[in-house]
Amino acid sequence: MLPVTEGARRPADGTSTDRGGPPGVRPVVDTPSGLRAKDLLSISDLSTDEILLILDTAEAMKEVGTRTIKKVPTLRGQTVVNLFFEASTRTRTSFEIAEKRLSADTLNVAATGSSVAKGETLADTVRNLEAMAPDMIVLRHASAGAGHLAARLCRARVINAGDGMHEHPTQALLDALTIRQRKGRVEGLKVSIIGDLLHSRVLRSNVLLLRALGAEVCACGPATLMLPDMARLGVRATTSVDEAVEGADVIMLLRIQLERMRGYFFPSQREYFRQFGMTMARLRRAKPDVIIMHPGPMNRGVEIASEVADGPDSVILAQVANGVAVRMAVLYLLAGARQEERGS
Ligand code: CP
Repeated sequence: MLPVTEGARRPADGTSTDRGGPPGVRPVVDTPSGLRAKDLLSISDLSTDEILLILDTAEAMKEVGTRTIKKVPTLRGQTVVNLFFEASTRTRTSFEIAEKRLSADTLNVAATGSSVAKGETLADTVRNLEAMAPDMIVLRHASAGAGHLAARLCRARVINAGDGMHEHPTQALLDALTIRQRKGRVEGLKVSIIGDLLHSRVLRSNVLLLRALGAEVCACGPATLMLPDMARLGVRATTSVDEAVEGADVIMLLRIQLERMRGYFFPSQREYFRQFGMTMARLRRAKPDVIIMHPGPMNRGVEIASEVADGPDSVILAQVANGVAVRMAVLYLLAGARQEERGS
């Protein structure tokens, strides 16, 4: 177990009363190593050192939310708006739990029930929220670049919680944390990402992050769902699922995103499962200690068989649990950088 920050006192309700950093990690306001960028919009906003800082901070954050330390006052007095214009279960709830564990004032805005339903633009919505002086905005949106637009209009820090087919940086960070926990490292591992590559923001963020940490990345899917620039990203592309699975340390399945498909990319879901679906039989080609990942939500019986999703190699629910710790780490490190800028 990680050491608790020296001098921390815990009242009966489990709230830590120290300066608010995670146990075992020095408060970022005292370090020169906070995040450089104002916002987290893409994995390319982060240096490799910053990626590792987030993963180490997330490890320490896992103790927050347990019976011994229910919450820390890191973001006390700060307002975080969760602006989710697209459906989400894992990302939205884990950000909200993370914010509450860091004692932030949080509020949730969804497209339904907001003035977006009356035709208000994203820019106007962001300008109006900014007028109420939030400290951070967590944004999910169906359009690529939505976070960049919001960040340009806002003094508030913006965290991209998934923008169309572009990126989902906190998902890639929680995936890397899960891999590192299970394998002890990321460098040198063969990570095969299989599924709907074309429509996947999870793929784009994972490729940037896994390559930065030295993994060998193989991407596999039907030719119709392949990205054209895989080689430029340092990724080996194949349409052969057997080749992708062969010797893999990590297999990450991607959801077939039917809602983003206009036209026919494969004959039927049954046919997709027959050619690309992850089954126990296919898994036999992987390393014996392979782990199975999926960002969710899963299409059981399409990209993954239930016996694989629920089997002994699956770390899918560990990914979800790590989502809270990673999002606490990102919120904490961005908030620390803000305090550095203010000189407090
Ligand atoms: N992985 C992921 O982004 O899941 P949600 O869409 O449920 O947030």
